[in-house]
Amino acid sequence: MATVAANPAGLANVSVRDLKVQLGANTVIDALDLDVRGGEFVVLLGPSGCGKSTLLHSIAGLIDVADGSIEIAGEDMTWADPKDRRVALVFQSYALYPTMSVERNLSFALRINGTPKAEIERRVARASDMLQLGPLLKRKPAQLSGGQRQRVAIGRAIVREADVFLFDEPLSNLDAKLRTELRRELKQLHQRLNATMIYVTHDQVEAMTLATRMAVMKSGVIQQFGTPAQVYARPENLFVATFLGSPAMNLMNGVLTVDNDRVRFQGAHFTLDVSGYAFRSAPVPGLPCVLGVRPEDVRVELDGEIAANTGGERAKVSLVEPMGNHRVIWLDYHGAQVASIDQKKTPVAVGDTAAFVVDGAHISLFDEASGTRL
Ligand SMILES: Nc1ncnc2c1ncn2[C@@H]1O[C@H](COP(=O)(O)OP(=O)(O)OP(=O)(O)O)[C@@H](O)[C@H]1O
Ligand SMILES: [Mg+2]
Repeated sequence: MATVAANPAGLANVSVRDLKVQLGANTVIDALDLDVRGGEFVVLLGPSGCGKSTLLHSIAGLIDVADGSIEIAGEDMTWADPKDRRVALVFQSYALYPTMSVERNLSFALRINGTPKAEIERRVARASDMLQLGPLLKRKPAQLSGGQRQRVAIGRAIVREADVFLFDEPLSNLDAKLRTELRRELKQLHQRLNATMIYVTHDQVEAMTLATRMAVMKSGVIQQFGTPAQVYARPENLFVATFLGSPAMNLMNGVLTVDNDRVRFQGAHFTLDVSGYAFRSAPVPGLPCVLGVRPEDVRVELDGEIAANTGGERAKVSLVEPMGNHRVIWLDYHGAQVASIDQKKTPVAVGDTAAFVVDGAHISLFDEASGTRL
């Protein structure tokens, strides 16, 4: 069995091998592999019910696995007691002790396991310093805002000085503004703690902004594992392509045609030279496929001369959504909706005929039958 070496700084890796987890009659996870390097911030992203929490709880030791192994910091922890795994878990619900002050909430686990008083004080001071909890130490949880409560919950994980921090949607109970604030704090915390983090969310913005690498999951299976930039720009399949991005990637069905050295995508109305596309294997003429292009790679132009010069496709503007710093322009193209992110304030209005141009350098092609990237 191959294991991933701990990184040079000696930070804890997490290697999940061939993991199978059964809950009741359900096989929630089957044959899953995941390698988290020491010091990484890995985000598990996927729709509700895909098995994110199950995977996280397996790593924490809260769930017995049916098969496979879990290694933490180079040690086999598959059957280790949760308290011996050197992991700390932060839940979505803060689960603070309501009768205890913030200070006592922070120190509770350390007092239980008999940590010396001076050491408790040092660790509580460090956590409260990192999370700016100083002014709140004497308060009870009921006297805190949601964001402050979640900071205390994170502080409780920090005082344990774990090697690996596991977060299960820690920000999902907070309002939008607080969520973005705490998101930035978490990212800075990761840099300061210099620890390994695994973070579960179904919020793609959290995943994109926090992750050093992200694993996109569906039905207990990791669909793609890579940097946010890789996953966004080169989605491995149609599920990943459409799960990330807002508005979603535009998709068009068609076939490939091959003529000497020219490869073309041929849709019902739309043709694009895709000779420059990085095909993984030789393009098969006649293969039914799906062309994907992100809204920011679709340029809207005014109808008329410009479009004629650049070979744009004519379409009718069906909706314009102002987003503050940009607009989303929706075009009706032979009955299909094409979204474009427009930064230039192109003067178009609903009902106008406009033209769109697809940036051929930033497209994705998928096999129509399997959904896999070509
Ligand atoms: N105790 C259980 N017995 C049987 N099935 C379960 C049990 N707990 C969870 N499941 C199922 O396991 C699957 C994965 O659940 P899990 O909680 O890991 O999903 P999740 O990705 O964390 O979803 P969410 O985003 O909603 O939190 C779901 O289909 C769920 O219904
Ligand atoms: Mg969950």
